[in-house]
Amino acid sequence: MAALADRAFAATFKHVFTFSLLYEDSEVDNRVLGLDAHSRVLAVSGAGCGVAGLLAAHPARIDAIDTNPHHLALAALKVAATRRLTSYAEFYQLLGRGRHGDPERTLRPLMTDLPAWVGRYWSTNHHRFRHNLYAEGLAGTFQRWLRRTVGVDADFLRTLQRLPPADRLARLSPIFASIKRSWPLRTVVNTPLFLLGAGVNFEQRQRNLRANRAATMMDVVTARFERLAQTDLETNWFVWMALTGEFNHDHPGAVPPYLRAESHRLALAAPTEVGFHRESLQRILADATPGQWSHFSLCDVLDWLPSDAQRHLLQRLARVGGPSAVVLTRSVEDQCVVDRVGLSHLYERVEPTSSQASDQERTRLYGRVNVYRVTST
Ligand SMILES: C[S@@+](CC[C@H](N)C(=O)[O-])C[C@H]1O[C@@H](n2cnc3c(N)ncnc32)[C@H](O)[C@@H]1O
Repeated sequence: MAALADRAFAATFKHVFTFSLLYEDSEVDNRVLGLDAHSRVLAVSGAGCGVAGLLAAHPARIDAIDTNPHHLALAALKVAATRRLTSYAEFYQLLGRGRHGDPERTLRPLMTDLPAWVGRYWSTNHHRFRHNLYAEGLAGTFQRWLRRTVGVDADFLRTLQRLPPADRLARLSPIFASIKRSWPLRTVVNTPLFLLGAGVNFEQRQRNLRANRAATMMDVVTARFERLAQTDLETNWFVWMALTGEFNHDHPGAVPPYLRAESHRLALAAPTEVGFHRESLQRILADATPGQWSHFSLCDVLDWLPSDAQRHLLQRLARVGGPSAVVLTRSVEDQCVVDRVGLSHLYERVEPTSSQASDQERTRLYGRVNVYRVTST
């Protein structure tokens, strides 16, 4: 039954423009992946902030992959803008502020080295930059609605920021109460539409409920906000985006790394070859040759799969990557997926790197951010 629901979820999700921002802390990825000039990375793109952020390390090759063409097209645009817009001010205007006076003229020259379908995509979707890219998509739409319903804005966030973390929950509790009281919010949060907007399929929903010992997704969402409130709110770009629809433009570290001036300067000189693949991870790995990639950045794709499919995918990754290949994965669970599916003879978890990465991940969406090294195939 769950497998059937997730097949319908996947078939629907790939047609929906959900995310304009990657809801993963790519600063953590840059710290733990250990890329160098010989690295060849296969990376699930999502909205592409992480893929664009890898360019600063000058790996030999990045293959970005996603089953959702909206997300992959946005990732391709972020990569092209990072490499080709030499003016940092213009680059930041486009992807930091998410708006541009003449997006069609700015986007057109960025398309020259990208697959033809990406060019066609942006020739009809450049209007997303007219108002605010980050208010677009299903996730952006939900966030706008949430802001309007509970009445939070940048001033509220700055007030919260000035309070000691321990006092913030008291300030937030009337807001949590109004969210829980609002029947439209309560209803929508517990529907498949909300799961689509949050990028959480039914398998991951169950994992989320178990990990948070929660009865409903509403409980998961409020628990997540409570955890987020304890973080450094000045630089937490996920909180800023959710509560204001903007990054905190007053702080240079309050944006995903690819949007920072130093990272952009490094990326402009990247010799990296980049490919874009509109297909599934399972499909590309089935046709891959051993040693094709040294690093695999999976987002939380494993969470979308039942245990037997997780085991199969991890076995294939070990075979393709070979000994010493690195796999980066996020999960809402706090268990070690490799141990749970019985593959500890193929992988070692890199520690203390993984535990530190899990603590540092500022989305507070995941129980674990784990880095595995292949030990045997
Ligand atoms: C797993 S989703 C979850 C949301 C994610 N945490 C984020 O912030 O984008 C991330 C991306 O993985 C893609 N995806 C899911 N399963 C995939 C698969 N088997 N192969 C390739 N991409 C996949 C989705 O289309 C989506 O763009």
